[in-house]
Amino acid sequence: MLGSDINPDNLPQHIAIIMDGNGRWAKLQGKPRVFGHKHGVTAVREVTEAAAELGIKYLTLYAFSTENWSRPSIEVNALMSLLVETVRKELATLNKNNIRLMAIGDLSKLPDKTRESLYEGIENTRNNTRMTLVLALNYSARWEIVEAAKKIADASIRKEIDPNVLEAQDFSNYLSTRDIPDPELLIRTSGEQRISNFLLWQIAYSELFFTPVLWPDFRKEHFLAAITDYQSRERRFGKTSEQILKTS
Ligand code: IPE
Ligand code: IPE
Ligand code: MG
Repeated sequence: MLGSDINPDNLPQHIAIIMDGNGRWAKLQGKPRVFGHKHGVTAVREVTEAAAELGIKYLTLYAFSTENWSRPSIEVNALMSLLVETVRKELATLNKNNIRLMAIGDLSKLPDKTRESLYEGIENTRNNTRMTLVLALNYSARWEIVEAAKKIADASIRKEIDPNVLEAQDFSNYLSTRDIPDPELLIRTSGEQRISNFLLWQIAYSELFFTPVLWPDFRKEHFLAAITDYQSRERRFGKTSEQILKTS
């Protein structure tokens, strides 16, 4: 049985992952960085499958940040082609496992082929209900927040909303994650301990888990270990430990 140490009653609904370390993984083997990205796909497949089997409802993977455009063009192009290829190849498996594909980020700036295969994947899996796999592509949290602010300003000029009564929950409704609960757990691989412009608003109260494992080496057992660690934490949301223990 998958993850027998895991308490099925205390699973995160949403797990977000900053998949990092592909370049270093490749370098360790004397290979070009792109080799690491290709092997990263195996980790994506394993983790997606494990998450669905466990009953996680949303899995968000940071695949390409807005800042990643500043990498050498050979790497950017390879990543964009890899995305097309992966979405096409994995489509049947996504459907077999009843997984819905979604994307967040500024998709309009992606190469046409990448965007088209992504839309095809989203369209072909839209009725799946077991889990939603969200790819963050050309994503930046500050971009997302500014976009939300622009939409709010616009709606307020058109007198559709009154900004004076706007609350945090209303603001969330203008983000690209509006129908998705905030992640309870955020994992980053490769030993880096930073957020790199990912889901800044949504991780306000997420538990953070950092592992030295490089993304292409990340497997089910590492994923389960992160969830077990999450389950050992006391989420206090500003309250005292005594208050939490009394209500649980
Ligand atoms: C993460 O691995 C994948 C992307 C950012 C697309 P990196 O490519 O950042 O790998 P390192 O951090 O250079 O090792
Ligand atoms: C963050 O990784 C982006 C993705 C995982 C897609 P980076 O490797 O680009 O992050 P920094 O630049 O080292 O912070
Ligand atoms: Mg990196």
